[in-house]
Amino acid sequence: MHHSHAHQASRLQLNGEGRLRHFLSTEGLSRELLTELLDRADSFLDGSGGIRNVPLLAGRTVMNLFFEPSTRTRTTFEVAAKRLSADVLNIDISKSSTSKGETLRDMLWNLEAMTADIFVVRHGASGAAHFIASQVTPDIAVINAGDGRHAHPTQAMLDMLTIRRHAGEFSGLTVAIIGDIRHSRVARSEIHALQTLGAREVRVIGPRTLLPRDFEELGVKVFEDMAAGLAGVDVAIALRIQNERMESALLPGSSEFYARYGLTRERLKVASPNVLVMHPGPINRGVEIESEVADGPHSLILKQVNYGIAVRMAVLSMAMEGQDADQARRQQEAAQ
Ligand code: CP
Repeated sequence: MHHSHAHQASRLQLNGEGRLRHFLSTEGLSRELLTELLDRADSFLDGSGGIRNVPLLAGRTVMNLFFEPSTRTRTTFEVAAKRLSADVLNIDISKSSTSKGETLRDMLWNLEAMTADIFVVRHGASGAAHFIASQVTPDIAVINAGDGRHAHPTQAMLDMLTIRRHAGEFSGLTVAIIGDIRHSRVARSEIHALQTLGAREVRVIGPRTLLPRDFEELGVKVFEDMAAGLAGVDVAIALRIQNERMESALLPGSSEFYARYGLTRERLKVASPNVLVMHPGPINRGVEIESEVADGPHSLILKQVNYGIAVRMAVLSMAMEGQDADQARRQQEAAQ
């Protein structure tokens, strides 16, 4: 993303007081705000693997609008909203009237009329969440649940929570993101979050065809060799190969990919002895990760899913508070 786009995006997602009002991207948000989000998510964890019920969204309506498939994100947003005492509607887009030619804008206006307070949006087009945030009435918060190859900010923040809880402060950590970086909205959002939170070093590892073209702008270290890239890392994040976003045959094949870039026990021997292994899911066993690593003692893959509930509770409640503050200010101005 160019600087001006990042600036526009951060303007759209913050209110006049610099509080969150939409959550569209980790790009352009301050370390203080990201840390506040993580602290709030931490406060929702009860310390024994459970998540607290905190009725911050009682009487509010959250609508899940998923234009692309999802298992983890859609479900944990629903659980998160319910833990906050909100009403939740899952709109089945494939069964909606968009198939009868209704435009996205008209559909949003109709959903607004059904008294939605928050739209959680996943869409295949990069920029879809920003577009929707720019179209909705001012009292609706839009949360990006993944847009094209652009951003998946709640995934990035649940990964940050996982790292902070299990590896400690970011300033001491070297983090490697492995595989299909080019098509990954997760990688992009993680890179911005890790840099903002002050990670010591962020690496990306993969074949040149799957590395981002703008990595110099992103300020990450690039490795095409797994042994060199994994040397001494504290956190190794494997990514799924996004076949659905490949414009041409960028890959030789999944067995060739595994042979060079699969995250295996053998390859991890050069990493820190306490290396944390993460993956946003869905995993493809034997393609980007060895089963014994995915299920092994270093793996935090299912912890990530659990923390996702707390992070999504933090995002939903913070964005709603930002909207409420804006609405109160508007009403005050109108009364004057
Ligand atoms: N990690 C993630 O976004 O998974 P889903 O596609 O299942 O939501």
